Amino acid sequence: MPERPVDTELDEQTNRWMWWGFVVMVLMVAIFPIYRFYEPSNREADRAAQLDFLADQGGSIYSVNCASCHGLQGEGGVGPAMNSKQFLTSATDEQIISLIAVGVPGSQMNAYSLDFGGPLTSEQIEAVTTFVRRWEETAPDVPNWRDPLDLTSPDSNEGGEG
Ligand code: HEC
Repeated sequence: MPERPVDTELDEQTNRWMWWGFVVMVLMVAIFPIYRFYEPSNREADRAAQLDFLADQGGSIYSVNCASCHGLQGEGGVGPAMNSKQFLTSATDEQIISLIAVGVPGSQMNAYSLDFGGPLTSEQIEAVTTFVRRWEETAPDVPNWRDPLDLTSPDSNEGGEG
C-alpha cells in the first residue's frame, strides 16, 4: 500500500487557523484585565460629570425658587441658612429632598414636589439638593442657621419674629 500523500497545503492552512485562533485568544485574555482596570474610573468620571450637570441645573432652580427666602449664597433670610456647616452636616440628602418635596406645613416653606402641588419634578429636587450640598465643603459655622435673618437691621439678629 502506498502511503497516503501528506496534504501539506491543507496542513498549512489548518496550522494558520490554529495560530490565529491562538493569537486572538491571547489578545482577549490580555485585554480583559485592562478593560476591567479602566472601566471603574470611566464610571467614576461619568458619575462626576452627571453630578456636575445636576448641580448646574440645581443652581438655576435654586436662584429662581429658593434664593428669595434662603439667600442667593444660602446665607438665609426669611428661611433658614442653607450654607451652614451645622445644617449641612446634620441633614442627609434624603432628609433635604423630602423636606423640599413636602414643605413645612404652616410655614412659608411650601411643598415643591409636583406630587404635592408644587412646581418641581423629583429630578429637579434632586438637582437643587446636589447644588446645596456643594456648599458643604466651604460652609461657614452658622450654628443658629434656623434663626431668620433680620433683613431690616443688618447688624442685629434681634427682633426676628418667633
Ligand atoms: C417663601 C419663602 C421660602 C421659599 C421660596 C423657600 N423656602 Fe425653604 N424654608 C422657608 C422657611 C420659612 C423654612 C423654615 C420652616 C420651618 O421649619 O418653620 C424653610 C425650610 C427649609 C429647609 C429646612 C431647613 C432646616 O433647617 O431644616 C430646607 C432644606 C429648605 N427650606 C429648602 C428650600 C429649597 C431648596 C427651596 C427652593 C426650592 C426653598 N426652601 C424655598 C422658606 C422658604
